[in-house]
Amino acid sequence: MSVPAPPKPPARPDKVSLWRYLRLFKSDILSAQPARLYRAWMAEFRTPFFRSFLLNQPELVQKILKDRPDDFPKSSRISEGLRPLLGDSVFLTNGAVWKRQRRIIDPAFEGGRLKDTFPAMWAAGEAAVARLEARADGTPVEIEEVTSHVAADVIFRTLFSIPIEHEIATEVFHRFRAYQRAQPILNLAAFVPLPGWMPRFYPRGTRANAKIIRGLIRRLTAERMEAIAAGTAPDDLATKIMTTRDPVTGAAFDTDEMVDQVAIFFLAGHETSASALAWTLYLMALYPDWQEKLAEEAAGLARDFGAVSRLRLSRDVFREALRLYPPVPMMVREATCPERFRDRAVPKGSQLVLSPWHLHRHTRLWENPDGFDPTRWQTENGKQCQREAYIPFSAGPRVCTGAGFAMVEAPLLLSMLLRHFRVARVEGRDPVPVAHLTVRAKEGIWLRFTPR
Ligand code: HEM
Repeated sequence: MSVPAPPKPPARPDKVSLWRYLRLFKSDILSAQPARLYRAWMAEFRTPFFRSFLLNQPELVQKILKDRPDDFPKSSRISEGLRPLLGDSVFLTNGAVWKRQRRIIDPAFEGGRLKDTFPAMWAAGEAAVARLEARADGTPVEIEEVTSHVAADVIFRTLFSIPIEHEIATEVFHRFRAYQRAQPILNLAAFVPLPGWMPRFYPRGTRANAKIIRGLIRRLTAERMEAIAAGTAPDDLATKIMTTRDPVTGAAFDTDEMVDQVAIFFLAGHETSASALAWTLYLMALYPDWQEKLAEEAAGLARDFGAVSRLRLSRDVFREALRLYPPVPMMVREATCPERFRDRAVPKGSQLVLSPWHLHRHTRLWENPDGFDPTRWQTENGKQCQREAYIPFSAGPRVCTGAGFAMVEAPLLLSMLLRHFRVARVEGRDPVPVAHLTVRAKEGIWLRFTPR
């Protein structure tokens, strides 16, 4: 069997009618884009109501994310679909409110605290191995479901010290899946010519579902508030966040604010990791020699946080999977004042699209941009691109809070799984990437598991 390249969605022709563009968008944001975006430094999309620009030039990406982030807040156009669920969570806010939220949340994710989350991650990994043992007879398994399950388990265990089997955790997990499936594509509003004042309609049941999810999270949060007051709370991420006071104002989150934050930790923390882990496992089936190398490395794994730092190959492979299949394919910011980029006028109110998907496969930046090569991180080109053109977790002050967490979680879970199982492709069922809330596969990712 010849080894195919990692799957890439087809690009659309350069010129299409607005009608066709909208239709393509409805099915998938990635194949709605023309191939020239893989080599352009900047591209403009004109709509009757506003303009949007896709920015690939590293200097421009740096300007938006790192040098002047306050001048380019998150675009409100993309928040609409998520607001019923996430309220005023750190993912959606801007300005002073956002800064205060990060001051309270960030300490919980600092390096030292990561060590404390390790036993919960390990326990979730063992539970995932046990669940898969029953299915490891070579029959095809849809692994996005498997990785969602384990990633959700990690979040509940690290945040609230409860496993996914806990009654509330199970219900939240299932309802989130339904919510996510009903979501319109996250960034659609940034490209599509709807005026900002036009009301957005949510699919039927979305608001009701969001209300139920928030009610469940409220129960967990209120119980935890009581346990903290009684001095019986476990030492986990929820307790840490709920007992941290803002060093500037001295105030901690109240229950309402904490519900918003828990909702985003759950969504951002499990959707993304699940997507990345599923693509990584698929790549391991596509490149069995890498799979063998990782299994060999994993043989030395022990239930000890220090052992994670020795998973060097697993980390390089995961980094490469995040390059090829960045779970958050695009991010949108808004220009709050008129700008000039590459000698072109960028009016106030323009939507600025940063696309990890295109930047990570840019043909003028990366050697072998569409190929799978985990050794690239040791090359000059790989190192330079990692600094300038690699943003799976975004960059600058608004970088993903869970980046360090995810870089421990994923190599660990990957190693625990590959230590126990061999994974193989299912002929004729290779995945086609599509972007929903995160980068997923059109008809799931199917693999055969057998015991090692
Ligand atoms: C492979 C896994 C992950 C990837 C690729 C990822 C990626 C990202 C990206 C690209 C953003 C920025 C989005 C934007 O600015 O528009 C982000 C934000 C965020 N992520 Fe992650 N993430 C991952 C895992 C996690 C985990 C495990 C957590 C928490 C436990 C988490 C919590 C958050 C939060 C709270 C934000 C909002 C930060 C802010 O706006 O200030 N993420 N993530």
